[in-house]
Amino acid sequence: MKSLVQSHINVGVIAGVLFVLLTYLVVSQQTAISRPNVVTTVAQWLSNKQQIGGGPGEKVVTTGEQQIADKQLIQGPSKTEKANKVVCSTEERLSDYCEVDGDVRVNGKAWSVDIVPPSGWSERREWKIRPYSRRSAANVDRLNVTQLQDPAAAPPCTVTHHVPGVVFALGGYSGNAFHDHADVLLPLFLASLRYGREVQFLVINRVQPWWLGKYRLALRRLSRYDVVNLDGDAHVRCFPHLTVGLRLHKDFGVVPEWVPGKRRVSMPDFTRFLREAYALPRGAPVSREPGKRPRLMLIQRQRSRRFLNGEEMARAAEAAGFEVVVTELMLDAAVDEQARVVNSFDVMVGIHGAGMTNEVFLPPGGVLIQVVPWGKLDLMARIEYGEPATDMGLKYLCYNVTLEESSLLELLGRDHPAIKDPDSVHRSGWAAMYDIYMTKQDVRLDITRFALTLAEAMDHLRRLQ
Ligand SMILES: *[C@@H]1O[C@H](CO)[C@@H](O)[C@H](O)[C@H]1NC(C)=O
Ligand SMILES: *[C@@H]1O[C@H](CO)[C@@H](O)[C@H](O)[C@H]1NC(C)=O
Repeated sequence: MKSLVQSHINVGVIAGVLFVLLTYLVVSQQTAISRPNVVTTVAQWLSNKQQIGGGPGEKVVTTGEQQIADKQLIQGPSKTEKANKVVCSTEERLSDYCEVDGDVRVNGKAWSVDIVPPSGWSERREWKIRPYSRRSAANVDRLNVTQLQDPAAAPPCTVTHHVPGVVFALGGYSGNAFHDHADVLLPLFLASLRYGREVQFLVINRVQPWWLGKYRLALRRLSRYDVVNLDGDAHVRCFPHLTVGLRLHKDFGVVPEWVPGKRRVSMPDFTRFLREAYALPRGAPVSREPGKRPRLMLIQRQRSRRFLNGEEMARAAEAAGFEVVVTELMLDAAVDEQARVVNSFDVMVGIHGAGMTNEVFLPPGGVLIQVVPWGKLDLMARIEYGEPATDMGLKYLCYNVTLEESSLLELLGRDHPAIKDPDSVHRSGWAAMYDIYMTKQDVRLDITRFALTLAEAMDHLRRLQ
């Protein structure tokens, strides 16, 4: 088939197996702590996550001209501490972070941040801040953030920075395309947008040395300065304002009221930023050239969760009026090249997995079709990729795989517990769930049913014209 061009899309598969896993475990643990009798299905974990995320906000704004940050309390009391232009939070659902205005000094080698009181003595306070946006990332250490009692106890500055700083960690779940965007790039964008590139990024726990290089174009668009590597950094770096840690608003999303600096920022601003960083030409779907068909990209995984009838799917998409390209996922493409490829499409079709993160490069108004494997994965799929797609201004369509379309039926037989009772698999934990539903499963879509989803995508695009 001449339109089946192979191209390679990078998804950062390295940690691909890990990401939802940790969210999943941690959410289950948190749920278990707060509700002893909870039935731990994915659906319940996730709906619990959502409820918690949607609580009403309370704004605590510091007095004086130098305003620090909006502090939102999510459901119930929070131990947010505020003193002397310092806002530190360790009680939010997802993240720890501090915003410090005033004399603040960072020593990377000691993993310490000292806040120097303006004059005289102040109350000594300490916070342990994990500078990775998901507190659940237990493989990232915590920074000791200390408000000193005595200004004289402050370590002398060896480097004085005149712009605000943002300290964040790598490691954690980063290295996976979803987490790179959801956990690092988006929160960093939100934390630093207000500075108009006059901001110094400082990275700690730089366990993947390639990460900063991979995302250099995005980082450069947010800050005109080279990133400072804090690992083993013996300097005492002094700042007039410092953000310590990144605040995650949602699994992958923005709560506009939480964006510092009073800007009304949301997901379309984030994807616009990425299009600017990578010089992506298309801000709207459908070819501008007359007579050209809308372009559909079908992401074919190679090892797990394969489309067993990918060629038939591609032919169905052609029959529905699309120009179709089948791509596979590879590790070696540069992000900007990959982004440009994705941006040239109007519709992306793929099965649940980190490759779906490429949605961030689709033109707004385009369509994401997520094929959700069998096994009660629909809520997870929706929260990780579906809702973010909608927030970005994409049309989100989900295709739920039925048992008859899943290779698991033949592999395990109807009487297997994983077929009869998916909840039991979810209850036994992430590893079992992942092993069965995410690793062992391939799908063969019912083309008649898939054609309906394709028609819906085409209708959506036609209505835009
Ligand atoms: C961080 O603070 C704890 C006490 O809260 C202390 O035991 C530890 O040594 C401190 N770590 C560093 C690197 O200063
Ligand atoms: C997929 O399944 C979920 C959960 O059963 C349901 O809420 C959703 O509407 C389904 N989507 C489609 C397109 O059938």
